[in-house]
Amino acid sequence: MSEHEVTVTVDGSAERATVEARRLLVHALREEWGYTQPNVGCESGKCGACTVEMDGDVVKSCCVLAVQADGSEVTTVGGVDGAPEGLAEVDAGDPRATPAGDNDEFGPVQRSFHEEHGLQCGYCTPGMVLRARDLLADIPDPSREEIREGLKGNVCRCTGYENVVDAVEAAAAKLEPIETDGGTAGQADTVDGGAPTGGDD
Ligand code: FES
Ligand code: FES
Repeated sequence: MSEHEVTVTVDGSAERATVEARRLLVHALREEWGYTQPNVGCESGKCGACTVEMDGDVVKSCCVLAVQADGSEVTTVGGVDGAPEGLAEVDAGDPRATPAGDNDEFGPVQRSFHEEHGLQCGYCTPGMVLRARDLLADIPDPSREEIREGLKGNVCRCTGYENVVDAVEAAAAKLEPIETDGGTAGQADTVDGGAPTGGDD
């Protein structure tokens, strides 16, 4: 099996490794570089536990070869901060705001998962949070149906999903689109539905 040098920027740090051509990105992240937030579930694109951002797209890192990620920027849930793209958290004095309390190092989506008990074992949570951020960047004020549709590629074996949907709804309530000269950022007509296969879903 041929081996290749790869360099990937992960959560802002340049990481290098020599990997077999068949090495999956999720295994390189966890075992070569120690980023253990993306979890390994099905290894076949069905569960979303391994979800990361790669060059701005949300991908399942078991569906990406490490060599395909060479030169890219990867963000795990440990590397996200603040509001999703195009959105800003409402001011502290806004009635929609909730105090960060002991969770002030986390962004509004992570805090909402905590506040709404959107996790139990937490295995799915890194993927859920990244997928929810992507959904909110596309649809800042989604309906519960749109949330379910947006998260359908991420499987949770614990929560029954109700609290996960509550968490995304609560996060949306904390956020508002950033005003730009051309209107508001972060709005799109459709959701990337998180199809369960392929590297970019
Ligand atoms: S481990 Fe990647 S989708 Fe399940
Ligand atoms: S909280 Fe356990 S798998 Fe989702």
